[in-house]
Amino acid sequence: MKNTVTTLQQMKNEGEKISMLTCYDYTTACLMEEAGINAILIGDSLGMTMMGYSDTLPVTVDDIIHHCASVSRALKNTFLVADMPFMSYQTSVYDAVKNAGRLIKEGHAQAVKLEGGASVCEQIRAIVNADIPVVAHIGLTPQSINAFGGFKVQGKNIERALQILEDAKAVEEAGAFMVTLECVPEELATLISEELSIPTIGIGAGSGCDGQVLVYQDMLGMFSGFKPKFVKHYANIGEEMKRAFFEYDAEVKSKAFPAAEHNFKIDKEVMDEVRASVHKSDLKISEKQKKVIA
Ligand code: KIV
Repeated sequence: MKNTVTTLQQMKNEGEKISMLTCYDYTTACLMEEAGINAILIGDSLGMTMMGYSDTLPVTVDDIIHHCASVSRALKNTFLVADMPFMSYQTSVYDAVKNAGRLIKEGHAQAVKLEGGASVCEQIRAIVNADIPVVAHIGLTPQSINAFGGFKVQGKNIERALQILEDAKAVEEAGAFMVTLECVPEELATLISEELSIPTIGIGAGSGCDGQVLVYQDMLGMFSGFKPKFVKHYANIGEEMKRAFFEYDAEVKSKAFPAAEHNFKIDKEVMDEVRASVHKSDLKISEKQKKVIA
């Protein structure tokens, strides 16, 4: 079944949970498509997972387009959302519409996601008026890391909890068709999911959300260092990749790889002729060299 804004809304209406993962490359996208994941997010988390930055702030619209276009070539049924990076929509409504348009035209995304609540509703309205579906993102918004003073759970006190609830209602009213809730206490995220008619997608927001999203390198166990509390490792791919790299390195050095079964063959007669011609040209060279020396 092809996932669209309509089917994602139907899933919420029917109490069926929505699966979403980040993805940044064609090969991984093929596997997610085959697995039946409902939606893929080209997250600006690619700044950290693919580019090695310490946060998402340096990511550009061109970075997102590059990865989004690659992923789009793998997808048939999976819904594709592209993140609007830092300063691609905060600067003006015009910038927001123009950059959202680039993510659709050049990145081949079907929707865009942007961070913020009431403060970005003007941008959400304008993008939606351009017929581009918008996913909002509230709670912990990593592009505001400097304003927040770090990656922290949001909405634990009454003021902030009410503000997140208000933000959720505001983005729905502005026309967002889905909203991401990041690092929000479970009970608050559940209440928001009940209050909104659009689907909520949680990351560190508990099981009461209408769907879940995870960064794929996190859920595959590709990083050995820090594991956020909300991440579950569904595999330990990082260890398995490292084991394979060690083994390859050792086999290249010990000459165990490539083995006979990995090599291409040539007829003995052909090879004999090649050798003979090398030998003849060796002789020619040495005759020439003799003349030079003389
Ligand atoms: O950039 C990203 O990967 C995200 C998810 C964490 C929701 O925004």
